[in-house]
Order: sequence, then structure tokens, then C-alpha cells
Amino acid sequence: MKMWAGRFGKELDAAINDFNASIRFDQVMYRQDIAGSIAHAEMLGAQGIIPAGDAAAIQEGLRGILADLESGALAVDPGAEDIHMFVEQELTARIGDAGKRLHTARSRNDQVALDLRMYLKDQAAAVKQLVVELIGTIASIASAHTHTVMPGYTHLQVAQPVTFAHHLLAYAQMLRRDAGRLSDFAARIDEMPLGACALAGTTYPIDRHRVAKSLGFARVTENSMDSVADRDFCVELGAALCLVMTHLSRLSEEVVLWCSSEFGFVELDDAFATGSSIMPQKKNPDITELVRGKTGRVTGSLVTLLTMLKGLPLAYNKDMQEDKEAIFDALATTRACLSAITPMLRTMTVRPDKMRAAAAKGFINATDCADYLAKKGVPFRDAYKATGQLVRLCIEKGCTLETLPLEEYKAVCPAFEQDVYAAIDLIACVSQRRSYGGPAPEAVEVQLENLRAWLDASS
Ligand code: ARG
Repeated sequence: MKMWAGRFGKELDAAINDFNASIRFDQVMYRQDIAGSIAHAEMLGAQGIIPAGDAAAIQEGLRGILADLESGALAVDPGAEDIHMFVEQELTARIGDAGKRLHTARSRNDQVALDLRMYLKDQAAAVKQLVVELIGTIASIASAHTHTVMPGYTHLQVAQPVTFAHHLLAYAQMLRRDAGRLSDFAARIDEMPLGACALAGTTYPIDRHRVAKSLGFARVTENSMDSVADRDFCVELGAALCLVMTHLSRLSEEVVLWCSSEFGFVELDDAFATGSSIMPQKKNPDITELVRGKTGRVTGSLVTLLTMLKGLPLAYNKDMQEDKEAIFDALATTRACLSAITPMLRTMTVRPDKMRAAAAKGFINATDCADYLAKKGVPFRDAYKATGQLVRLCIEKGCTLETLPLEEYKAVCPAFEQDVYAAIDLIACVSQRRSYGGPAPEAVEVQLENLRAWLDASS
């Protein structure tokens, strides 16, 4: 029998009951639902809205339900409509009439907004923790590779030499912004909506600030209609998760490339790679491919949320029940991906020799050759042109800038001297890029130091 049976002449159609219900996915919020109800009952008692004895009985009854759910002594009824109805029904079954007073000055509309805010606050903190752990892992791999020269690419064409540390730390910066977005989200979601009731507040003398304080919220929401109609926080978190996934996906794509025999820059640990059912030689980077693939799924959740909201009139509409599966799936997926990628990176073997060999190809030091001439007083555009001619000459002769004889250099531009070879040496090319934020080992040390200070403050 439904709570609202009074107004209806029939039971809800069984198939429609399943269609309407959200218990399958909203039961994960049982802790938040019970905590919210305890705070609400305490306030109702303190304000004299319900008898103090009933308020105490409700709180005790709710604590019992929580304990029994945690221990497994009580199972969530899959036939209940949602977690809010389930807890209230169970309470009334346990303590009788006092339980029927719990829903005074409250609606499921403000209740679900409260539960969801509390749940997402915790979840976002858990995701942030995983992001911080991944940054820590990246920082420790980078510390060991500040001198590991590798090719830097643009258009996936060899461009200029960098180090493996510098390349990896670019991802640490992306993830650091992700952690910042999750913190911003936590600050903005920190508003307590209970007391908005269905949409128009209540005539009871409730104390919303008292409830906010007992639940650890920083503020209460300011407008009762917005309180029950707002799901911006789902969109915000969804967007933050999309960026986390986008960053993991870009990193994954690079690891896929690096694992290939053509690159060979890294080798995954056997515990983090998979084989083929037919090709005995294969060692596949499935984890990274799955992360890349699952990124689309999280993006899909964000689009679901935005589309769900865009046409809704104020205030609550049942469409909003669709918020949960979207954001819960985005959270579970992002958490799973972070948990897989961190140990995969931690255990992977880096092959500096392969990186160094790849960096020796592709005239990666051509910019440095032009810079050498420019530093000797040749205007950069002329230096650029002369170096282009040298590269062409090398291609014709099948040699590199390092092996091209000095006479050939001088024939193209008399300003070349013997010291050109030192200037275009790969190690020199990297170690001279000392500009702030550059790949020179000493510049990367600064980057690492700042990152470590941020990590210390974040964990
Ligand atoms: N299960 C609902 C949801 O997830 C709870 C709120 C229901 N409110 C209502 N008026 N039907 O959104």
C-alpha cells in the first residue's frame, strides 16, 4: 500500500510501479537519508513541532535501521519506491505512530536534494583522493627521469627534445586542475536544502540553520524553489569528471603508442597487460584502451544530465530522478579508471634508451641549430632558412645534423663554427631549455618541488 493511498481508488499497476521506482539505484544513499532524517527529527523536537519523546524515538529507531542495514540484518526492500519511502516505512513498522511524524515539514523533493548533495560531497572527496594519489605516482616516476631525453611531438611529428619527466608532469598539471575543480565543486555544493519542503517552504517554525549545522553544511540554500529544482551540482561534478576522464584518456592514448614495438618507450608489467587468444606474441595495453573507451561513457552522462534539465519548469519534476544513474555511473567509472591506471603506471618499465634513440631521429635539434646561428648575430628568419637547407642536404645525403661535416655547414652559412656540434647535442638542447616551465632538468626540479608542496598540502 502506497503512502498516498488515501487519494487513490486502486493500487499502482505493477509494471508501472517498477518503471516509477528508483530504489534499485538510490539505495546507495541510505546513510545520507538516515542522517538527514535524524537531523530533521532532532530539529522538529527542539522546535516543539513534534513531541520531544517522539523525536527521540524517531532518532533511536533510525539509528537502529542504520545499524541493521550496515550489519546486513536488514535488507532494502526491492519493492519499495525509493530509499526515502523505504526508511520511513521501516521506521513506522518499528516504532509505530511516532514514525508517522517524521515527514512533518518535509517533502521528498527537499529530502532527495539533501541526500544527493551529501552523497556527492563524499564521492567527490573520494575521487579527489584518487586523483591526488595518481599525481603522487606521476611525481615519483618523473623524479627518476629528469634526465631521460625523449622526443617531444607536435602533430605527432618529432618536434623538439624534452624529458620523460617533463612530459609526464604535463599530466600532473592537468590532474592538479582536476583536483582544484573537485574542491571548487565541494565548496559550492555545501548548501543545505532541507526545509524547502515540496517547493514553497512551510508554515511550521522550522530551524534550517540548526539542521545545516548538525549535518556539517556551511550554508543553507536561499530560495525554496531553487532548492528542489537545482541539479547544477550534478552537472558541475559531471563536467569535472569528464575532464578527469579526458586527461586519463589522453594519457592512455600515449601509453598505447609508447607500448607499441614502433615506439617501445615503456613496457607494462605483466599484471597490467593482457594477451591475445590467437597471437602468442601479443601483450596488449587493454587497461588504457578501456579507459579511453569509458571516457565516452562519462561524457554521455554529462550530456544526459544537461539534456534532462534544459526544458524543466520549476520546481521538482520526476525527470530529475534520472540524475542519479547518470552521475553515479560517471562516478563509478571515473573511480574505477583512476584505480586501474595508478598501479599500471607505478609498475611500468621505462626504456630511456628507446626514447633517446627516437629523439636522435627526425632532426629534433633543427631549432637549436637555427638558434645557434641567431645567437651569433644572424637574424632568426635567415638562420631558420639556412637550417632548412641543411636539413634538406642531410636528407639527400642520408645523414644527420650531428654527422654533417663542418664544410657543408659553412657552405650554407659562413657563421657556423666547430662549436655548432656542441650546440646541437641532444643533451645540451634539453639542458639549455631552462626557461621557467621548460624541460631542462633544473627547471623540471622547480616544477617538481612546487608539485610536491601542493601534494603535501592536499593529502
Ligand atoms: N525518487 C525521487 C527522485 O529520485 C524522489 C523524489 C520524489 N518526489 C516526488 N514528488 N515524486 O527524484
